[in-house]
Order: sequence, then structure tokens, then C-alpha cells
Amino acid sequence: MQWGFRSRPRLRSEELEQVADWNLPQHLGIIMDGNGRWAKRRGLPRMAGHHAGMNAMKEAIRACDDCGISCVTLYAFSTENWKRPENEVEYLMKLPDQFFRSEMDELVQRGVRLKFIGETHRLPTYTQETVRLSLERTAHNTGMIVTFALNYGGRRDIVEATKRLLQDVEQGLLSVDDIDESAIAARLSTRELVDPDLIIRTSGELRLSNFLVWQSAYSELWFTDTLWPDFTKSDLLAALHAFHHRKRRFGDVK
Ligand code: FPP
Repeated sequence: MQWGFRSRPRLRSEELEQVADWNLPQHLGIIMDGNGRWAKRRGLPRMAGHHAGMNAMKEAIRACDDCGISCVTLYAFSTENWKRPENEVEYLMKLPDQFFRSEMDELVQRGVRLKFIGETHRLPTYTQETVRLSLERTAHNTGMIVTFALNYGGRRDIVEATKRLLQDVEQGLLSVDDIDESAIAARLSTRELVDPDLIIRTSGELRLSNFLVWQSAYSELWFTDTLWPDFTKSDLLAALHAFHHRKRRFGDVK
């Protein structure tokens, strides 16, 4: 079953009423970048930037739900982020617990269903436990799907899908001639999600950094110089407004 369809926005304020007539992305991906620079500019440790980033993420999730977006995927920790100093990695691994402790009740109340993509089985045991509990707590919710990309790498995702494909061929479940794009997509970690329609990246960097590399083939991209901890509902609305005006042709001429 593929998730990611939802009817109309739940409007909570006048500011959001304008969104009602916009063509919204069903699936929004966000590369939350700039936490370190945000902290540095304030003479604070990088961890303070991640803490502020977590708060910006809470607001972004609320705003996405209020706008009526069906599905949001947040790039929280990449397969490359292990290269960071040990204390920073340790701090990032503890953030999910902090986040869910403060947000779980509201997420449940909103009907949010949580998902994780990435090699979560390689995370510290305490982070895995948080992942398990949050999946369990929201499993039956039917509202917005919030996916955390945690120890995620787009190329790793494709490698794992390729292994599954070869296993299926070996076991006679699939023939080589049956391998097509949908056979690969069906073995990616995002198999239950529609492809992202829009990807936002903050902090002025203009790249995808191994985020949803297969799935973003036809995604619209929106970049802002705003550092992630400063990202607000207004920035989200600016991105959604830009998306509303994009002409998506998917290779066609119309
Ligand atoms: C990139 O900024 C940000 C990250 C690697 C971490 C993002 C994580 C969060 C915002 C919170 C995650 C919380 C949960 C609950 C999963 P950077 O550190 O690379 O910034 P810089 O480029 O300015 O150094």
C-alpha cells in the first residue's frame, strides 16, 4: 500500500487560509541544514544549534500538518554524519528521545504516523528503543506521515534495494526481464511513500547530499539561505507558494 494521499488542508489561522487554493506537494522532503553555523554565529557550541534545530523541526511539523501536507520526510542524520566529533554524534543520537518525550502527545492527538528510513538497526540501543516506541505509539494513526531519515543515505538505500532484488532473482521470485523502475522502487525504504514533490534545503547549500537520490528524480527543489533553526512557518509558506507556481512536465511538453 502506498501512503501519502490526503484530502484538504486543515486550516488553523488566517495566515494559512491562503494555502487552501494552492497546489500542495503531497510529499515534502526537508534537508535541515545550518544548525552548526547558527550556533557559531552566536558563539555557542554546535549542540546548541542542533537543539534549536529540533525546535524549528517541531514548528515545521506543526505547520506542515496545519497546511494539510500528507507526508513529510526530514533528513535528521546521514550515513556520512558519523564522521562528526563523537560528542556531537552522541548528542544527535539523544535528540529523538528528547523530541518524542515533549512531542508525542501532540503528534498522537494530530493523528501523525511516524516512520523511519535508514539503517536504524545500527543506531545506539537507546535510540533504537525510541524509534521502536514511537513507531508503536503511532502505528494506527491515519493523519500526516512524518518520516525521519536517520542513519540514511540515498545510495545505501539503492544498494540495499539491489541486494533484495538479486535475492528475489536467486530465489526465482523475479526474472531479470521483470526488473524495471517499479521493481527497484518497491524495494527501497520509501516503498510505501509517494516520491517527494518538493524538497527544501536550508542554509544556502545547493545540493541534495545523498537524500532520496532515486526518489528525487522529478522533485522540485527549493533553497533558502535561512539557517535551519531560523526556519519558520513563513519560510514554509514561501516554499509552498513557489511550488504552487512551478510547471511540472515530467519530460512531457505540456
Ligand atoms: C545539519 O546541520 C543538521 C544535522 C546534521 C542534524 C539535523 C537534526 C535536527 C534538526 C534535529 C533532529 C531531531 C530528531 C528528533 C531526529 P549542520 O550541523 O551540518 O550545520 P552546519 O552545516 O552549519 O555545520
